[in-house]
Amino acid sequence: MTILGIESSCDECAAAIVADGRRVASNVVATQIARHAAFDGVVPEIASRLHTEWIQDVVSKAIADAGIAEGAIDGVAVTARPGLAGSLLVGVSFAKAFAWSRGLPFIGVNHVLAHLYAPLLDDEVEYPFIGLIVSGGHTLICRADGFDDVTVLGTTIDDAIGEAFDKVAKHYGLGYPGGSAIDRLARAGDAAACDFPRPNLYKGEHRYDVSYSGLKTAAIRQLDQFWNPAYERNDANLAAAFERAAVDMLVSRLLRALDDTGIRTVVAGGGVAANTYLRSRLAGRAGLRVLFPPLSLCGDNAAMVAGLGYRMLERGDRDGLQLNASPRVAAFKRS
Ligand code: KG4
Ligand code: ZN
Repeated sequence: MTILGIESSCDECAAAIVADGRRVASNVVATQIARHAAFDGVVPEIASRLHTEWIQDVVSKAIADAGIAEGAIDGVAVTARPGLAGSLLVGVSFAKAFAWSRGLPFIGVNHVLAHLYAPLLDDEVEYPFIGLIVSGGHTLICRADGFDDVTVLGTTIDDAIGEAFDKVAKHYGLGYPGGSAIDRLARAGDAAACDFPRPNLYKGEHRYDVSYSGLKTAAIRQLDQFWNPAYERNDANLAAAFERAAVDMLVSRLLRALDDTGIRTVVAGGGVAANTYLRSRLAGRAGLRVLFPPLSLCGDNAAMVAGLGYRMLERGDRDGLQLNASPRVAAFKRS
């Protein structure tokens, strides 16, 4: 079954062709980064307008790159939630029109679950596993018992991890998008230069939760207080120290969830899953299988949407033309 996937929930206009939820025949991502860089963040109105201008060409390119005839497509999957309303609507409307005009089944998928599917395009994995979804909008440690059977163990009680990277980078003018800029700078820095406070949420219901608001404030407003005077105050050292604090907090909760559940497989996804230090912290642990998506599938893309969409369509799920975009979704089940 060959699925056309479409993704337009934020600032990437993407389309992909994936066969049987596994074989990525094409994966086109037209990024709007350059158009939002001047604002140091995504401007929703600009994003939705660019999606409207680009989506036809992006979909045509995905079909051409896959080397298939349009008639070979068996179904359409599109990100329908969560995300920027105006951006989501472009993809959803396009997908509906494409599917309706060709008499194809179509399905709206959850962007967060799609991120968790990205590594499964390349690898077989058995459920249950612990999912780690880390992006600009989400920070989730969850137990996955199926591709859409997810129970949240921990989450952020304030900012998402990627958002913290982006805000710190924006404040210090480190580059845009902030996460990859900090990652790059940190490689030349020394994380011991600054000893950021680690919030303590160890108790009870917050056992696996994280909090990034305090770290963000410490990095932006209280640097003098935490800087180690033996180190030069430069961007690389700041990036390394911030990255270590942000990632270590996440990894400690993840390891706790693994210990408590006895599950020995981790599947990561989302833009922050590209982070070099996060990957190194989880690499080479005896008895633990960790799957990261390839770098090309960490950020927003449509291959993960087509892959997850295939699983749903194969099960018999269908959406009708009344499907709407939902900027927010109810949280997954909380354990
Ligand atoms: O998944 P994604 O493309 O969009 C959302 O669904 O949010 O994630 C984007 C986020 C941004 O916050 C970006 O700064 C962060 O992922 N990011 C990174 C890295 N690459 C992207 N954060 C840390 N290290 C990276 N290498
Ligand atoms: Zn995303």
